[in-house]
Amino acid sequence: MTVQLASQPHLPGSKVVGVGHYQPPTVMTNDDIVARGVDTNDEWIQSRVGIAERRFATDDSMIDMAEKAAVMALETSGMTAADVDLVILATCTGEQQVPGGAATLAARLGIKSPGAYDLNAACAGFVYAIAAASSAVTSAQARTVLVVGSEKLTDYVDLFDRSTGIIFADGAGAAVVTSSSEPGIGPVVWGSDGDNAAAISTDRETATLRQEGQTVFRWATSNMGTAAIEACKAAGLTPSELAAFVPHQANLRIIELVAKKLGATNAVIARDIVTSGNTSSASVPIALSKMLQNGEIPSGAPVLLLGFGAGLTYAGTVILAP
Ligand code: UT7
Repeated sequence: MTVQLASQPHLPGSKVVGVGHYQPPTVMTNDDIVARGVDTNDEWIQSRVGIAERRFATDDSMIDMAEKAAVMALETSGMTAADVDLVILATCTGEQQVPGGAATLAARLGIKSPGAYDLNAACAGFVYAIAAASSAVTSAQARTVLVVGSEKLTDYVDLFDRSTGIIFADGAGAAVVTSSSEPGIGPVVWGSDGDNAAAISTDRETATLRQEGQTVFRWATSNMGTAAIEACKAAGLTPSELAAFVPHQANLRIIELVAKKLGATNAVIARDIVTSGNTSSASVPIALSKMLQNGEIPSGAPVLLLGFGAGLTYAGTVILAP
């Protein structure tokens, strides 16, 4: 006997309707790191990485930060917990292996029995999650999706490791994605290079994060410009039409080199790394949220989001600013 399954009616598009962020209050300057006895200095960090200060979570957990960023995203979107039927939490610093954090996050926010899952694509996680949310909405698997990138990297970093301890930091960013009569999220361009998976990994015994900085630097600067251009092409835009470029905040030198290759001549470029450090999956939504809050990106303007990191993984997509 053959059976026919019900098909889902396709909606025309999806869009981001609100963005939020949260950063813990404790500021760590480069001199504060040096004062802890780390063999580094402010001049090296500023010139090689571009970081002046970052935030460390002392009282907030990863889920606490996710919740605070989500509350702001819901507020700016004008939506409530009752509107959300799917929650995607992008994180690589989950508090436990099991359970994932998305269902707990949803319960804390009062979202009643949504679909809920964690997504680990490391620093590319938020952009992967936006693509997953967009697909869920346009295929009518979800009405409204809460997407969160939250990381408490200080739980996984050895402060005395000069390749990670001076770079990684804590924070969360979030977005609300819902259906739209006009497309507001372009096709995702994503990929990975598993042959170089060992370049960023956690040690099995100690769960401490390690990275081969130069390997990742070369991979990012050789490949992310092309990925960024492809994401614009997929959305039917030229880079010069972008109003903003929000890449993962890993290293200011990577940001400048990729922006130059992209050639987004009219775009404001996110340089949030200077005051926030590298917050992995939270870096793109934190930077985006601040730029929207500061009025740097007009509503409806095209913005290229580009995440990249451990895996190695990357994802780029153009969205229209909420
Ligand atoms: O978010 C996930 C994706 N991650 C990335 O995109 C990270 C990409 N990589 C990077 O951002 C850079 O490779 C790092 C910031 C991690 C390191 O910068 P680098 O310019 O590649 O430094 P290096 O490891 O090649 O070291 C250069 C020099 C060495 O000294 P010598 O041998 O030239 O005398 C290091 O010992 O800098 C020294 N050094 C430091 N000095 C002061 C390395 N780390 C430090 C430090 N402070 N923290």
